[in-house]
Amino acid sequence: MEDKVRRDAQEAASDHAWLKMIVPDPDTPAVVAGTVTLWSHEPVPGTGQEPFSEIGWMVLPEFQGRGLAKRATRTHLEQARDENRWGVVHAFPATGNGPSNGICRSLGFQLLGELDNQPASKRSGSDLHAS
Ligand SMILES: CC(C)(COP(=O)(O)OP(=O)(O)OC[C@H]1O[C@@H](n2cnc3c(N)ncnc32)[C@H](O)[C@@H]1OP(=O)(O)O)[C@@H](O)C(=O)NCCC(=O)NCCS
Repeated sequence: MEDKVRRDAQEAASDHAWLKMIVPDPDTPAVVAGTVTLWSHEPVPGTGQEPFSEIGWMVLPEFQGRGLAKRATRTHLEQARDENRWGVVHAFPATGNGPSNGICRSLGFQLLGELDNQPASKRSGSDLHAS
């Protein structure tokens, strides 16, 4: 976990990823409910793959069900669009993840299809994109 946090901090500091904290109340900035992260995937050499961006989100259980993930993800995507930096953004929620699929639906993601476990990214679920 420490390694993961260190890597995330390095990626955010180098601006390779946008890692934003969800702060429900600006009067208590130390209270963080979750994160929204946007990062880019480099194509695997020789695959002809295009580079693409991915967004992911999480909210701690005690803060869930208040609309925080949806609001934070919308804000993040609007900023990405305004800065015209990330191109088409994909999300890979598990097919059984009701809240995440709800977020994708209401924020205008388009369902591209379902994926089985992907060895390259270790993800399964739906591939959705927003532009
Ligand atoms: C997924 C997660 C971020 C949702 O956070 P949240 O702040 O509770 O989500 P919101 O309150 O913004 O709700 C999002 C939408 O899901 C809907 N929703 C909530 N629970 C749902 C359920 N069980 N089934 C279907 N939709 C559901 C909400 O109604 C809302 O849609 P609406 O505004 O159109 O009504 C949170 O549950 C989480 O962190 N889970 C563990 C990590 C995870 O799954 N990350 C996502 C990986 S892609």
